[in-house]
Amino acid sequence: MAESDGEVAGYACFGATPTTDGTQDLYWIAVDPAAQGAGIGRRLLGAVEDALRGEGARLLLVETASKPSYAGTRAFYDACGYELVARVPDFYAPGDDKVIYARRLG
Ligand SMILES: CC(C)(COP(=O)(O)OP(=O)(O)OC[C@H]1O[C@@H](n2cnc3c(N)ncnc32)[C@H](O)[C@@H]1OP(=O)(O)O)[C@@H](O)C(=O)NCCC(=O)NCCS
Repeated sequence: MAESDGEVAGYACFGATPTTDGTQDLYWIAVDPAAQGAGIGRRLLGAVEDALRGEGARLLLVETASKPSYAGTRAFYDACGYELVARVPDFYAPGDDKVIYARRLG
């Protein structure tokens, strides 16, 4: 959770991926629209990565959509050092793929 002036400004949640050795999924990350673009998302994601490294995690995966309205989200993961590693065509809807980004934590 990220706070600004005592108010919630954003949050992230994550968990271990069953049957893997040290892989984690980022289930969701969100920053208050009024607070976006100020570095809160990058700091939240960095805090998640630091917490996971402390637990011995190896790989962090995140899924998102390929549709144009998610271009900013994909740019965020690019800017934070994530690599696009897989794509499931037409997953969410025709023409809207699931894209999977990854970052090695080691
Ligand atoms: C994605 C999200 C969490 C980013 O949080 P944020 O606090 O706005 O991001 P930051 O200000 O920390 O930006 C970090 C980097 O990502 C880049 N970035 C963030 N949003 C961007 C956008 N819309 N377009 C292009 N680049 C963007 C920034 O340029 C920045 O790069 P820099 O540090 O090199 O300048 C936020 O926009 C959000 O909550 N979006 C809606 C929910 C969502 O899509 N969640 C993910 C679901 S998979």
